[in-house]
Amino acid sequence: MGKGPLTSEQIAFFKDAGFLLLKDMLNPRLCERAIDRLWRTLPPGSRMKREDPSTHFGPFPPDEESDAPLHIRRGYLWQLRECGTEPLLIELAYNAKMRAVAEQLLGKGMLAAPTVNGRPMGSTGTAWPGGPADPAITEGIRGIYCTRPIEDAISQAGHHDQPCHTDGHPFQLGAVGLLTDTPPNGGAFRLWPGSHKRLYPTFQLQYDQLRVPYYDHLPSCKGIVHSPAYLAEIKRVAADTRPVHCHGERGDVVIWHHRLAHSATGNRSNALRQAVLYDFSRIDLDQCRRDPPQPDMWRDWSEEVRNTDCG
Ligand SMILES: [Fe+2]
Repeated sequence: MGKGPLTSEQIAFFKDAGFLLLKDMLNPRLCERAIDRLWRTLPPGSRMKREDPSTHFGPFPPDEESDAPLHIRRGYLWQLRECGTEPLLIELAYNAKMRAVAEQLLGKGMLAAPTVNGRPMGSTGTAWPGGPADPAITEGIRGIYCTRPIEDAISQAGHHDQPCHTDGHPFQLGAVGLLTDTPPNGGAFRLWPGSHKRLYPTFQLQYDQLRVPYYDHLPSCKGIVHSPAYLAEIKRVAADTRPVHCHGERGDVVIWHHRLAHSATGNRSNALRQAVLYDFSRIDLDQCRRDPPQPDMWRDWSEEVRNTDCG
């Protein structure tokens, strides 16, 4: 029986809570190189200077904004996606330690590998006019996601925290890795423990989310569609569950179940939040995605995961 890096207690926790915090998963030297790559992309005239943290406070001034799906700079968000299939970013996020964890959860030999120098997320534009880039269309990592700190954090309390949501594109296991130390108030990723078990059955399909096509002559309806059962349940989750803030140190990674409710938060520290996001999928996702939610929501996971009791 091939043992992976996770203990049975960790697997039980993951099944029950829908996430797991892992220490020291990213190579610090590669984290630093990814940050170098990020900052090199900033237009040379930007008033934000890497070596001067007092310039890291957001938002981006209007003349420095960009809605280009491969490199977004708007408000407090700075998202670099063009580097998502470069060898550096793949080596950073899809490293041997991360692969061992993901294989233990998703099954030996079952991980879909990223394509070095393939198409990064955002290379086909937005998912629908005025919508976000489609995270399903990437052959690499999602990108480097940064949140600039808020200068007047007290008066802006809560304003920059997104409501909880689930992702509408198919994959199995999300990962958010910290490239720098992130304090609890530093724009941490938020998760609603246990919500994956409640939300998974409310979808029509196991991994996908229905979308309304966009038509120029029928512009009022576009994008993803939520079932009434989903809307009712996510409202209950937001009301009855206290979210966990995934803060930590450089190299820490949180892995999370595809149907777990989560959100980004405003950054009320004085340090730029810099993280790398990757979505793990199984090689048979294209077959599994046709199925509705299953009586056993762990059907497509490893035997070890299926056989672990979570109380
Ligand atoms: Fe999301």
